[in-house]
Amino acid sequence: MTAEILDGKRIAAEIREEVAQAVKKLQLELTRKVVPCLAAVLVGEDPASQVYVRNKQRACEKAGIEGRTHRLPADTSQTQLLELIGQLNEDVSVNGILVQLPLPSAGNGGAGFDERAVLDAVDPLKDVDAFSPVNVGLLMQGRPRFLPCTPHGIVQLLHRCNISVAGKHVVVVGRSDIVGKPMAMMLAQRDGSCGREVANATVTIAHSRTANLAEVCQSADCLIAAVGVPEMIKGNMVKPGAVVIDVGINRVGDKLVGDVAFAEAAEVASAITPVPGGVGPLTIAMLLHNTVLATRLQHV
Ligand code: GUN
Repeated sequence: MTAEILDGKRIAAEIREEVAQAVKKLQLELTRKVVPCLAAVLVGEDPASQVYVRNKQRACEKAGIEGRTHRLPADTSQTQLLELIGQLNEDVSVNGILVQLPLPSAGNGGAGFDERAVLDAVDPLKDVDAFSPVNVGLLMQGRPRFLPCTPHGIVQLLHRCNISVAGKHVVVVGRSDIVGKPMAMMLAQRDGSCGREVANATVTIAHSRTANLAEVCQSADCLIAAVGVPEMIKGNMVKPGAVVIDVGINRVGDKLVGDVAFAEAAEVASAITPVPGGVGPLTIAMLLHNTVLATRLQHV
């Protein structure tokens, strides 16, 4: 079998166009001109984070959203960072706030950050990453306000590629707060409250301590890899005809590779996302979506 390549880049472009239309519609609904605004906070010099934040800023501008990037040095203190977040919470011209992760660890002249406390400080109504405990809790209860961007992008990808997970076994490899945990929750829920009709899956969360990981993966109708280990999922871990979603973006030498050994897995799977050009572009598209949603919640 040679798998269908799921073109995340094309679907992301479709969603970004929909977001641009939603920005225009919002402006027609409101009596005074409101330009949705996303404030991104970037602490330190991490090259990958700089690229991500620049890409987010560009994507905002193309969709008619104002992107403001606040760059802080690596030796910024926790108090200074919390002060900036407090100001952004209060600023009515800012609709969405994103603190780029990871924050610098101790060293580089800085003392390190309490990341949890930083994310907790973001106003839940401006929390377009959906990392605050309020938004995580609402998702757990099946009444989400914002959906976390990467899992929501995957739901959109499955929906728009006519892939149903209802009644199927989905194995999510990885249990991060950003991807693994919310992904599992969203696919297992009863109805479309977590994004379109993608629901009712039977979900297993696998991780580094899972016994017989290969066997667990082989039982998946849909295998979602979000571990951050280059090409960890081999072709022989994929069930013939399975759908494989690769969330990994790992730099190996001068190449970007996913968490899945793509060529091997594509021989076995019925459909697979490439890296780059699969899940990555969808994350940014859903961030723009959430920024417009936040603006609506604050103004309409
Ligand atoms: N770092 C890696 N992924 C993400 C994300 O989705 N949001 C933020 N803020 N930082 C990240």
